[in-house]
Amino acid sequence: MSKPDETGRGRSGVSRRAFLKGSGAAAAATAMTGAPGLEAEAQGAEPVAGLTTITLTVNGTPHKVEVEPRTTLLEALRMGLNLTGAKPISVDGASGGSLVLVDDKPTSANTVLAMDMVGKKIVTVESLISGDRVDAVPMAFVHHDASQCGFCTPGFIIAVKAFLAKNPKATEAEIRAGLNGNLCRCGTYANIIPAVLEVVKGGGNG
Ligand code: FES
Repeated sequence: MSKPDETGRGRSGVSRRAFLKGSGAAAAATAMTGAPGLEAEAQGAEPVAGLTTITLTVNGTPHKVEVEPRTTLLEALRMGLNLTGAKPISVDGASGGSLVLVDDKPTSANTVLAMDMVGKKIVTVESLISGDRVDAVPMAFVHHDASQCGFCTPGFIIAVKAFLAKNPKATEAEIRAGLNGNLCRCGTYANIIPAVLEVVKGGGNG
């Protein structure tokens, strides 16, 4: 980087004062008009380059959402559809925080691209806690006080749903092994296991 001389000019020949004046004006102009792409979009001009509208079937309802090729399913759910249950805890899905069901399989939503989810059946935790009746799994979590900060809870609930769908009569040891892909920083495991056992025994019906 060039050093300014006493006049404030660097080797580029632009004085510091002129630079600050120019960049300030540019920032103010951007603040008033918004980003160039957004402004054009608002005026009904060309669509923003790189964005594609796709339809995702989430919780039984088709939704149109604009995505980039790099947009993950988690980003499309959280930012495009305002479904914020699945959490961005780990980038590689190691925490289980972003779990959703895709065609009934537990899937870390931050490890798959939204565009690849077209035509698939996506189920998020919101479907289990909205409507007239709360699902037995979240109810059992409530009964057993199985969350503290709650950040990991949506992922655990989806993991439990998927696990019990295949193992409805699971033992405690099987539950422990079946949920070992989910992490809880608050350490609520001691309450989660009894909650799942309650569902196995037919409890937790909300
Ligand atoms: S309840 Fe806080 S991370 Fe699990």
